[in-house]
Amino acid sequence: MASSSSSLIYMIFFLLCNSCSYFDGARAQIVLPGLSWTYYDVSCPNLESIITEQLKKVFKNDIGQAAGLLRLHFHDCFVQGCDGSVLLDGSASGPGEQAAPPNLSLRAEAFKIINDLRRRVHDKCGRVVSCSDIVALAARDAVYLSGGPNYAVPLGRRDGLTFATVNVTLANLPPPSSNTSALLTSLASKNFTATDVVALSGGHTIGLGHCTSFTGRLYPTQDPTMDKTFANNLKATCPTANSTNTTVLDIRSPDKFDNKYYVDLMNRQGLFTSDQDLYTDPRTRPIVTAFAVNQTLFFDEFVTAMIKMSQLSVLTGSAGEVRANCSVRNSDSLLVSSVGGEGKKALSDF
Ligand code: HEM
Repeated sequence: MASSSSSLIYMIFFLLCNSCSYFDGARAQIVLPGLSWTYYDVSCPNLESIITEQLKKVFKNDIGQAAGLLRLHFHDCFVQGCDGSVLLDGSASGPGEQAAPPNLSLRAEAFKIINDLRRRVHDKCGRVVSCSDIVALAARDAVYLSGGPNYAVPLGRRDGLTFATVNVTLANLPPPSSNTSALLTSLASKNFTATDVVALSGGHTIGLGHCTSFTGRLYPTQDPTMDKTFANNLKATCPTANSTNTTVLDIRSPDKFDNKYYVDLMNRQGLFTSDQDLYTDPRTRPIVTAFAVNQTLFFDEFVTAMIKMSQLSVLTGSAGEVRANCSVRNSDSLLVSSVGGEGKKALSDF
């Protein structure tokens, strides 16, 4: 009796979890110690509206900037954690993360937008909000204001005092030539599941790619998993392997954050190998299909994965600092601006 009722419970659990084995987006989000949903409620109550209102203006003028800000958050978090290290200029110790090949195509404007938001926020609240939190909030607004899901961002990140070397940066950002096996392995090392990988790749529903990121699929031989008309159009945009042109990542709705990227993949119109192979590989194909037919499911899983990504190796408490200028560590800006030991001490104690 006991065993038959427990096997019934097991069966019900199995049936329920059969449909949720890939998907657990509805699960409550986990927030790491040191971060919280209400971190700036007292110290900077208008933080989120200052950022959102300013970004509405920026995107009204150029919606492409939304893609730049979303990608910036990804490149910040994957290298040394979400610590704003990608924002730092290089220093005497070596070139900054921005000098690493995958970061050369980050939009220069995205860095300016973050520093402008930082100035607006610090003008209102003082130097209490970190650059890394501003990047995370700007990415959230980029998604939402492009038509995607809205979600709360756990806050309280501190800005790092160091940046990664070019080699470490390269090792943490998979290239667009990666197949699914490489992507799954690379992202599993950061605790991402196959569903997370497919959901995060959905960030490619907005924005642009340069020819050099995908011409390896066109020349000298054409990738057989690519739709022929799509390939011909890409060849027109990129007449040679090193053309400097760009094209959209999602041909169906390039500026809208929706699930059309997955429809592209099902039609063999994914731009990068790392995109298209998600539909070729039997481990990720069912997830691509599920997102292509159910946008709500994609949005739920994207939010889960983004909140997870936004907490990678964060600095909290008294670790790191709150930068006064997102491009330089406070101690570096003091070296430049300080006129004497007194000023240096007073500022560093702030
Ligand atoms: C999973 C591995 C990923 C690879 C291999 C990859 C690769 C790339 C490449 C090569 C570009 C185009 C660069 C250029 O040629 O200009 C790009 C653009 C972009 N990526 Fe990814 N990416 C990945 C994950 C992500 C994630 C997780 C997100 C965000 C959630 C993201 C968001 C974007 C956006 C929005 C753009 C367009 C940027 C713009 O228009 O300025 N990517 N990605």
